[in-house]
Amino acid sequence: MSSSFKEDYSDDFEVTPWKVEGSVDYARLIKKFGTQEITDELLEKMESFTGELHPLLRNKFFFSHRDLDWILNKYENNEKFYLYTGRGPSGMVHLGHLMPWFLTKHLQDKFDSNLLFQITDDEKFLFGNKTMDEIKKNVYENILDIIAIGFKKSRTKILVNTRHIKNLYSNSLEIAKRITFSTAKSIFGFTNSTNIGMIGFPPLQGVPCFLPSIIEGKPTPVLIPAAIDQDPYWRLTRDIAEKMGFYKPAQIHSKFLPSLQTTGKMSSSDPESALFTTDEPKIIEEKVSNAFTGGQPTTLLQKKLGGNPGICSVFSYLRYLFDAPMESNERELKCRSGNLLCGECKHDLSSHSTAFISMFQERREKAKDLVSDFMYSEDN
Ligand code: TRP
Repeated sequence: MSSSFKEDYSDDFEVTPWKVEGSVDYARLIKKFGTQEITDELLEKMESFTGELHPLLRNKFFFSHRDLDWILNKYENNEKFYLYTGRGPSGMVHLGHLMPWFLTKHLQDKFDSNLLFQITDDEKFLFGNKTMDEIKKNVYENILDIIAIGFKKSRTKILVNTRHIKNLYSNSLEIAKRITFSTAKSIFGFTNSTNIGMIGFPPLQGVPCFLPSIIEGKPTPVLIPAAIDQDPYWRLTRDIAEKMGFYKPAQIHSKFLPSLQTTGKMSSSDPESALFTTDEPKIIEEKVSNAFTGGQPTTLLQKKLGGNPGICSVFSYLRYLFDAPMESNERELKCRSGNLLCGECKHDLSSHSTAFISMFQERREKAKDLVSDFMYSEDN
C-alpha cells in the first residue's frame, strides 16, 4: 500500500515530511502518494455544505484528499468531525505556513468543528540543529501566530508534544506497537544513519488522529488540513486505524507556496525565501523587490514576448493569497501578452503583504493574553 520514498529520488523533485525540493509536479504526486484529486464535483458538494467556496479550494491550492467525500457524508448523517492540524516549530512562521490554517479556520467556522492543533517540538529538535531552548522560543512565537488566525477559543486546543506527553503517550504506544521498522523505513525512507528518535517519532504525530475518539468515547471522524508533505504520516495511521477500532483520518492536502527566490517551497531556514509574519514593512518590500519572477530581462522584451506567470513567485503569491480568481486570470493574460511589467506585480504584492502582515501583527500582540485559554488541558 505504502509507496516508497526511494522512488522519488529518481525524479526532478522530492517531497518528504522533512524536505521539499525541485519543481513539484502535483498531478504526479497524487499518483505516487495514492491520494485522490479534488474534483469539481467534490467542490460542488463542499459548496452545498458551506454556502460559499473558500478561495483556497476554488483556486485549487488545496488539490488532493483522502476520504473528504466520506467525511462530508458522515456530517450529513449527523456525525460531526474534528479538525486536526499542526506545526513543526523549526523557526518563525511565514505566509506559506498560514495557508492550511486559513482553510482550517474556514472549516471550523462552517462545520462548527473542534480543532486539535499539535506542535511537534520533539520532531524539530530531533531533526535539525536547534537546541531545545531555541525550539521552546519558537513554540511560544508560533502559538501567537496560531491564535492570531482567529480560531474559536472554545473549540480549539493546542497540544505541545513535550508538554502534553502524558496525554499522548499511552496512545502513541498503541500505535508504535503496530508499526514495524520495515514499514516505517519504506514510508519515511529512514536509513541506518537516521537517529533513533526520528524513527520513534511518527506515532506521536498519529495520536491526534485518534484522540477525538478517545475524548468523545466513540469513533469520531477527523479531517486533517495540511500541506501534502505530511501525507506519509497519515498513510501510516490509516493503515492501523481500523485495527485499533478508529476511523481512518480523512485529509485535505495543499500545495506549497513557492520560495520568493527560485523554485522550491518557502523555507524558515532561508529567511530571504519567505515573508514572515514578524517581518518589518521595509524588509517585506525588499524581499518582494528581489523576488524571482517569470519576467523577461528587459522592459522591451517583456512588452514584445510577455512574461511567464507559470514560474513566477510573485504571481503565485498574488494568486493564492490576495487576488480574486477573476483578477488573477486577468493578471495572467495581461502578463503573457506583454501588457504588464514585473514592477507592477511586485508593487501589488508589496502593498498587499505589508497591509496583511501589519494587521496580523496586531492580532499576534492580542494573542499574548490568550495563550493559556488555547492550551489543551493536561488534566484530560
Ligand atoms: N510535522 C509537522 C511539521 O513539521 C507538524 C504537524 C504535526 C502537523 N501534526 C500535524 C502538520 C498535523 C499538519 C497536520 O510541520
